[in-house]
Amino acid sequence: MKKVAIIVAGGSGERMGTSIPKQFLKISGKEIVVYTIEKFLQAVSDLLVILVLPKAHFYRWEKIAKKFNLEHVLIAEGGSNRFESVQSGLSLVDSNTIVAIHDAVRPLVNSLTIQKAFDGVKLTGACIPVMKLNESIRELTNKGSNAVIRENFRLVQTPQCFKSELLKEAYSQPYQSIYTDDASVVENHGIKVSLVEGNVENIKITTPIDLALAKHLLKVKK
Ligand code: C5P
Repeated sequence: MKKVAIIVAGGSGERMGTSIPKQFLKISGKEIVVYTIEKFLQAVSDLLVILVLPKAHFYRWEKIAKKFNLEHVLIAEGGSNRFESVQSGLSLVDSNTIVAIHDAVRPLVNSLTIQKAFDGVKLTGACIPVMKLNESIRELTNKGSNAVIRENFRLVQTPQCFKSELLKEAYSQPYQSIYTDDASVVENHGIKVSLVEGNVENIKITTPIDLALAKHLLKVKK
């Protein structure tokens, strides 16, 4: 089957407090989104990459693509939320394809996580990477809070991989605010999601602290 990665970079990165979206911030002279795309190209051969970007940043990408030999990457226009950005990228995907959807702001994903998520699609048509929690967690209730059994919970990462037919059907539903990732969209459409272990460094760069950590890890890992 063909393999496609949709890298969603359609956000404006307000929580980072920077004037350019966080996916375009540079670490050692290279934009975060470039690190992310390179991870996928190294992990999977014959991969088609679709990058979803805010229209206002298409010009920025043109220059970056030239500099890093990424002109083969297809571009789709971002929407007003992540769900719409995924829909936009999916419109460029054929049937009979395994699709990985990945946050551009997760440049520290490793090859093993990417490969396991693609391979895991065999099981139920949908596979996502998750991590065990190290901290204790509590559930907030209207009376206060309750301790919960940590072993019953997992943190969810990307890439989230699916058979293209399932994903397109699931993404034809109307948007709901409970959809914080692709697995929640697909699951709401009656599809069982399989889990594989992610990698601990695969953080989603959201706040300045995440950025500081990513800078350190990307420099150490070079
Ligand atoms: O905003 P959040 O941190 O949840 O974004 C996760 C990913 O989704 C980021 O890579 C971001 O660029 C992407 N996104 C998008 N389109 C939007 C909002 C977020 O592609 N409208």
